Parts: sequence; C-alpha cells; structure tokens
Amino acid sequence: MNLFLIKGGHIVDPQTGINGRFDILIDKGKIVKIQQNITPPPKTEVIDAKDCFITPSFTDIHVHFRDPGQTYKEDIYTGSLSAVAGGYTTVVCMPNTLPAIDEPSLVRYVIEKGEEVGLCRVLPAAAITKGRKGQALTEMSLLKDAGAVYFTDDGSPVIDAYVMRKAMEFAGSIGSFVADHCEDINLSKDGVAHEGEISSALGLPPLPPEAEDTMVARDCVLSMHTGMPVHICHLSTKVGVEIITWAKAMGAKVSAEVTPHHLYLTDEEWLDFDCKAKVSPPLREYEDIEALRWALASGIIDIVATDHAPHAHQEKMAEHQHCPPGMIGLQFALPIVLELVRKDYFGMERLVEVMSVNPAQKIGINPPKIKEGEKAELVIFNPTESWTVEEDVILSKSKNTPLLGRKLIGKVKYTFYKGKIVYRDKQ
Ligand code: DOR
Ligand code: ZN
Ligand code: ZN
Repeated sequence: MNLFLIKGGHIVDPQTGINGRFDILIDKGKIVKIQQNITPPPKTEVIDAKDCFITPSFTDIHVHFRDPGQTYKEDIYTGSLSAVAGGYTTVVCMPNTLPAIDEPSLVRYVIEKGEEVGLCRVLPAAAITKGRKGQALTEMSLLKDAGAVYFTDDGSPVIDAYVMRKAMEFAGSIGSFVADHCEDINLSKDGVAHEGEISSALGLPPLPPEAEDTMVARDCVLSMHTGMPVHICHLSTKVGVEIITWAKAMGAKVSAEVTPHHLYLTDEEWLDFDCKAKVSPPLREYEDIEALRWALASGIIDIVATDHAPHAHQEKMAEHQHCPPGMIGLQFALPIVLELVRKDYFGMERLVEVMSVNPAQKIGINPPKIKEGEKAELVIFNPTESWTVEEDVILSKSKNTPLLGRKLIGKVKYTFYKGKIVYRDKQ
C-alpha cells in the first residue's frame, strides 16, 4: 500500500509547534499533507486515529540487545521488535556484549545486523576502555568513524578518575561524549537492594545511594574542569538530582537520563523476594521517584532511556546475590511516562521532548518531525487504552520485569519508520 491517511488523531510535535487534530496523508512514505478533513484518495488505507495521539517516534539511547554473545537473552531482531512495539524507531545498544564492543569491526557488526533486520535504526555505543576493564582507552576516533554514537562502559563504571578524565577529554575533542554507569563499587560492594527500611526488614544486602551519588558528583566535577560533556546514565537518587542541578548551574556540559522503572517503581518491589526487582542502580524510595519526576519536568533530567536489560528466566530465578541485575523496558516506557502526564507532572509536549527530540539530538541525529515533506517516522498511540503485561504480549526474548500481571494505561497502535508501518497493534 502506497497511500495512508491517518484520520482525526491529535498531533503533538513541539518542534513544529503543532498541537491539535489534523489528518495526515502519507504517499510513498512521505508526509504530503497535514490538514483537517482530508478526503481519502482512491486505494488509500485509512487509519482511524480519533482516540489517539500522534507524535514523532521515540529514541532510546540505552538498550541491551546482547548481540554478540548472549543472544539467548535477546538479539537484534527481537530487540528491534520490542522497540517498535514501544513506539521507538532508534535505539542505541550498549557495548557490554561478549565480546565487548571495543573495536570498529564490532561496531560495524551491530550496525549491519540492525540494517538487515530493518525495523528501526540500531546504533551502537562503544566501550570507553578495552574489554570494559576500566584501564586502557579504546581507539575512540576509529570507533566513531565506524559508527559508534557515544562511549560507555555501562554495566560497569569507570572507577579510575584519571582514566575518566582522559576519556572525557578525548571523546569531547572528537565531537562525541562519554556516558557513565555511576557506581562506586567499593561502596556498593555485594549490595542487592537500596539501603533503607526494606533492605533491613528483609535482610537483603544493602546498596547505599552514595555509591551512585559520589560517582555522579565526580563526573560532574570532571566535566566542569575539562569543559567536556558527560552523560549520566539511569539517574536514580534525589541527591543525584541536586548534584546535577548544581553542575548545570555551574555551566558543566552534563546531561542525564532516567529510566521508566526508576520513575515508577520503589524498593517495595522486593517485598515478595522476587529478583525481578533486582536492577542496577537499584529501585529506590518514593522521595527519590518524586525528585526524578520533577527533575524530568523541569529540564534537570533531559532524557528518558529504558536501560532495557533482558535476562533469561533461569538467571533471574537464581539467589539474589547471583541473579544478574536488569529488567526489560521498551514496551512499558510510554505508558509509564503517560502516567506522569495524567498526574500533571508535565504535558504531552514534554513527553515528546524527553522520549524523542532530546535523545535523538543527544546522539546527533535529526529527530523525526511531523511535517509536510518529511518521511513518516511517527507513533500513533491510544493514551487511555489499558492492557495487562503478560508474557505473550512481551516481544522481547526475555520476560524479566516486575510489571508482569499489572495493568498499564496507554497503548501503541502503529509505528512508522522510514515511511513504512513497522508495528501494528493486533487488536
Ligand atoms: O540493571 C542493569 N543491567 N544495569 C546495568 O548497568 C547493566 C544491565 C545489564 O547489562 O543487564
Ligand atoms: Zn548501567
Ligand atoms: Zn544499561
């Protein structure tokens, strides 16, 4: 089908200022007309969007697709399927694969696999240090030339401040940036759950928030002194929010992301002792969640990123010390962020900024625009339709999420990428 008419949906795109009900006519993948009451030309597929919002599709700068090396957990095909089902058309894969993405040939491997699958843009982040060991820097220029969109040792922090400073300077000097998984492992030790009432009541090894906060502070200070950018991965604490507020006020080139799970779930998820609650950084307390939500609303936090981290059932069934941290997230991000819109933390424009515009700009790609002349790259979602998270609606290979069995409100109906429908809700 060459012609699509999306009828009666509420379009929101802060880049063009459009916020209202219009029809969209798409011809050979291109948006050719945005107007009220367009009459469908012959042989047009009409999509009824009267209960829906239409926004530019989303970019997730932090996912784990486990290829190469652990494709029993996820691969680039199943990862891409979950991405487009969540309304995403660009994702950035973390380099903590086996082997780690620390060489240009591995960067090219991820890009080529993503293109072969063709459902969305799959871009790699490369490691900061060889083998993610925290010591020798990778060949950042070559990795960038091969297509790495930024540098991170995610899964692990860069413990050595000297190495981090050099990495920041080098990445910044080639027009890229480093992103840090902020965790002082000397403080987090064998911690499993956020240190607080829940960890002590349940006797779970505690993981204190200062393990994260001290590293966030260090990275902000390094960025301020070097004048180079740093991106803070999955910020999860109220003190972290204060530190970033301070760093931004000092003019540091600091950006920060927050995950949907840290915006929505607390350490109470541990009450049934289920390791599906185990994630790094850990789920925190309600006060942290509240601080993160307001920071996202005010612009202190720039980006929502899922940290989609699939793990196999057997692995998540292990004892809490041995169970790997992480939860899947691509299909749940939109309903969770919509919940914040419903609760009036911010409006729909801000949702589009933090899920689409800011993350795309951060990695140097043009965010999709809903505008005549542009290729259709957009998501159509019903903000009030509820659905239950069940294994058979999860398109990821892994089903590790504490949200199993819960009801979410907000459902992706269609995702368009490069002018084509790459996801269509079955109902
Ligand atoms: O929870 C997490 N899972 N945090 C990380 O930093 C790594 C990730 C993974 O790779 O599973
Ligand atoms: Zn991480
Ligand atoms: Zn991660």
